[in-house]
Amino acid sequence: MDQKIIAKYTGLDCWIRENGCRRILLVCGRSVQNTKFFQWILDGIARTGIEVFLFEDFKSNPQYECTVRGVKLFRREGCDSLIAVGGGSAIDVAKCIKAFAEMEGDGEDGDFLQQEIIPNTIPFLVVPTTAGTGSEATRYAVIYFDGKKQSVTSESFIPKTILLNSDALKTLSMYQRKATMMDAFCHSIESFWSVNSTEESREYSREAIEKILEYMDGYLQNTEEGNAAMLRAAYTAGKAINITQTTAGHAMCYKITSLFGCAHGHAAALCNRVLYLWMIENVDKCIDPRGKEYLRHTLDEIGKAMGCKNAESGAKKFIDIFEVLKFDAPAATEMQYQELRTSVNPIRLKNHPVMLDEKIIDILYHRILGSCV
Ligand SMILES: [Fe+2]
Repeated sequence: MDQKIIAKYTGLDCWIRENGCRRILLVCGRSVQNTKFFQWILDGIARTGIEVFLFEDFKSNPQYECTVRGVKLFRREGCDSLIAVGGGSAIDVAKCIKAFAEMEGDGEDGDFLQQEIIPNTIPFLVVPTTAGTGSEATRYAVIYFDGKKQSVTSESFIPKTILLNSDALKTLSMYQRKATMMDAFCHSIESFWSVNSTEESREYSREAIEKILEYMDGYLQNTEEGNAAMLRAAYTAGKAINITQTTAGHAMCYKITSLFGCAHGHAAALCNRVLYLWMIENVDKCIDPRGKEYLRHTLDEIGKAMGCKNAESGAKKFIDIFEVLKFDAPAATEMQYQELRTSVNPIRLKNHPVMLDEKIIDILYHRILGSCV
């Protein structure tokens, strides 16, 4: 499905009018609400004279229960449309509210998760305020129910319209800025080597890798050009994972975030800087049906997209970027290593092109969190 991208401030008013919105539920995290950018969103809605209801009752790694509270507010206020302003959590919460709003019942005891998602026509606008998650391009939403991660999937989660405006990134902290960029970078790389990759997804990956590296400096210096390009690159990386899903880097990084509190993109970069190198050394363990020559070629292609001559120099460049960004690797105890190696669901590794078992995962975690890659 082709998504319409709007970038100008006036585009918001047009979207509201074109979709006949009367009462909008605006899903937005608290930190974004202190920004000028958010004020501009509110002013844009106010210009149209329609009613807006703010839903902010969620945190990062959102719980199912908060999506139920969002649905209650949506129904109680008779909302007819949804706007998500924020990073991955706000967008994923809004996706779930959209899907659940027209379901049966009140969602108690996980009831919405048991029902089939029937696509609806609720107008849905997504405004990302980080260049990382790519959730604005995907059919996935991640929420937590009973302490377990739930990936809720529907084609109808892909918003028909997104608003990409570089002003949204102006107030990001340096750590958030770096970590979200590395999330997008990891999406592009993991998608590239995924067993599900297609010609189309590889093109998205290649384009995203090139753009991320081309505009990294400007983006880190918070220039308008750098911010605009990084937003686009993260969106393109989102389109790649929408086709392929992510691989071992993401399967392994979630527990690092929950144990050590690193940002998601930081944890994903920790894992992938080791995985890339390890995969080059272990092409013989390839499980991609296209074969090990194909995998080796793909790893080289990733290096070339990074402006390097082959996979080896690409993997080295990844490690160098990690160092330049001054990310650290938390130190784990043996008990934590045990927790880490048993946390990775092997089924979630099925998209990864090289065979991984618990023993290898343990070795990798020791490299990921140890001082030597
Ligand atoms: Fe991610």
